[in-house]
Amino acid sequence: MEARSASPPPLRNTAWTSALWSPPWRRAILGERDWREVPLARLCEHIVYRHHAFLRRELPRIEELLAEVVARHGSTQPTLVGLQGDFLDLYGDLLDHIDQEEEVLFPFCAGLDADAGPADRVLEQLRMHEAAHSDVGETLARMREMAGGYDSSASLGTTHKVLLESLQGLEQDLHQHIHEENNVLFRRLRDELGEPAAATG
Ligand SMILES: [Fe+2]
Ligand SMILES: [Fe+2]
Repeated sequence: MEARSASPPPLRNTAWTSALWSPPWRRAILGERDWREVPLARLCEHIVYRHHAFLRRELPRIEELLAEVVARHGSTQPTLVGLQGDFLDLYGDLLDHIDQEEEVLFPFCAGLDADAGPADRVLEQLRMHEAAHSDVGETLARMREMAGGYDSSASLGTTHKVLLESLQGLEQDLHQHIHEENNVLFRRLRDELGEPAAATG
């Protein structure tokens, strides 16, 4: 699990996130919460500061590790090249995805963006994000297979071992991140908008 810094990390979209990061809620979010009861805006805030910040920090670091490992072992281990290709696709897709969540969907939840659009536009956003989450799950499964189940005991050296551990950490955080969005945030948002919950994994 990632180390938690004392102060929030810098974020791309700071206008609304900084407004939400008030001390009482910060304490609540960092402690044990029942996410079914926390206001939607606070749940969005938690996702941004915990999971989106994790991605913005970890993806560049893992990209460098992968480049180093592929440069050293790629010619004899072609699955590493395939792993790198899937990772780079995932990297770009995820950054676009979390930007869209922060710029369109989460401000609607926060009630800070009156122009976020009518309910049908928000529901369209939900469906789009759920489809993207499914794609992420498929890519993660493929990456796990190509990386030998992230078995670090079979690593090719120290950097490869760190890479495998980092990819496993990325997978774990993404699963939790997507769970919190699909099964908590989106479900609650659908309830508020009067649409039945979608079947989500
Ligand atoms: Fe997200
Ligand atoms: Fe998402």
